[in-house]
Amino acid sequence: MRIYFDNAATTPLDPQVFEVMAPMLRDHFGNPSSTHEHGRKVKVQIELARKKVAQLLRCTTGEIVFTSGGTEADNMAIRNSVEDLGITHCITTKIEHHAVLHTLEELAEKGKIKLSFVKMNGQGEVDLKDLEELLQNNARSFVSLMHANNEVGTMIDLVAIGNLVRKYDGIFHSDTVQTIGHFEHDLSVLPVDFITAAAHKFNGPKGTGFLYINKRLKLHPFITGGGQERSMRGGTENVYGMVGLAKALELAYSIMPEKRKKIEAVKQHFIQRLTQEIPGISFNGTSGDLEKSLYTVLNVNFPKVDRPDMLLFQLDLNGISCSGGSACSSGATKGSHVLAEMDRDMDAPAVRFSFGKHNTLEEVDYTIEVLKKIFE
Ligand SMILES: Cc1ncc(COP(=O)(O)O)c(C=O)c1O
Repeated sequence: MRIYFDNAATTPLDPQVFEVMAPMLRDHFGNPSSTHEHGRKVKVQIELARKKVAQLLRCTTGEIVFTSGGTEADNMAIRNSVEDLGITHCITTKIEHHAVLHTLEELAEKGKIKLSFVKMNGQGEVDLKDLEELLQNNARSFVSLMHANNEVGTMIDLVAIGNLVRKYDGIFHSDTVQTIGHFEHDLSVLPVDFITAAAHKFNGPKGTGFLYINKRLKLHPFITGGGQERSMRGGTENVYGMVGLAKALELAYSIMPEKRKKIEAVKQHFIQRLTQEIPGISFNGTSGDLEKSLYTVLNVNFPKVDRPDMLLFQLDLNGISCSGGSACSSGATKGSHVLAEMDRDMDAPAVRFSFGKHNTLEEVDYTIEVLKKIFE
């Protein structure tokens, strides 16, 4: 038996997505910037993909810029805001993905911005009063707060925070990489300026994502070169990636309620069985609370063992793929900057199990049997 419980790291490509990508690789090789028929045909596919994404998210096509993934989209939102919108103060948390955190820290080190960290509780939930004070005391702040944390599943209320940021004339960026394709985002009403996505988190291809840029903002190119992506990102387009992303998002939206129900049942079962059968476990962030957390993530503290670094290895040997922190940076139990901010015993080994549409209750039961043997 081989089980994949690492869907927050990446998800398998849906065969239907592969089917729409294959002809773009095999047959339609024209350069979308070429004005002849070979090029025009491909250009049409890009614009159809953009239209599909914009329709699903209820924004305009001009607000969607395709990127190479979540990291680039986060970089574009942050760096362009500082460069083009005259932002000098940014607010974030210490548990953001490194795509956000390292970018903001670099800008602060170079003296381009002042960086403030909003207070959080031991589950990573943002202190709204502290956020309001920071906004009040610093005119036109850029706020970057992730919709759902990729390691511990803690979420923010996009509407409440977006409205607060608007009240103080700030700019609001939310890294939605872990929620696009898992929740509906209605950008016709959401008070956000930037959100980001990576197709491989919702059964699409790797190396493709997008940035939503609210039309009220006018930005210069992030990558200079040709005029591709409406001049925001020069370079010949990753056409098969864009086409795959749009199909993956369409599929994700078409099955969203059933998928959510199925995954929530898997997570609930996992929580129940762990609580019953492994004494001394606890959950990180809000991930143990179905109501308050990202339904695809469960982050568990296990009882102390002699070799905590061996836990993931033992699970792997028994056919279970999961991770100890964020697989984007390590894939191992070593030094998660997110867990370091949580209210927990730092000596307890933590494992992130993250679920996708293919996971089953039987896989949970098998995993519990393996864990029982490890901790008996
Ligand atoms: C919350 C979050 N933001 C950004 C990223 C980076 O996305 P990508 O690896 O597609 O650049 C990830 C990847 O895991 C993520 O989980």
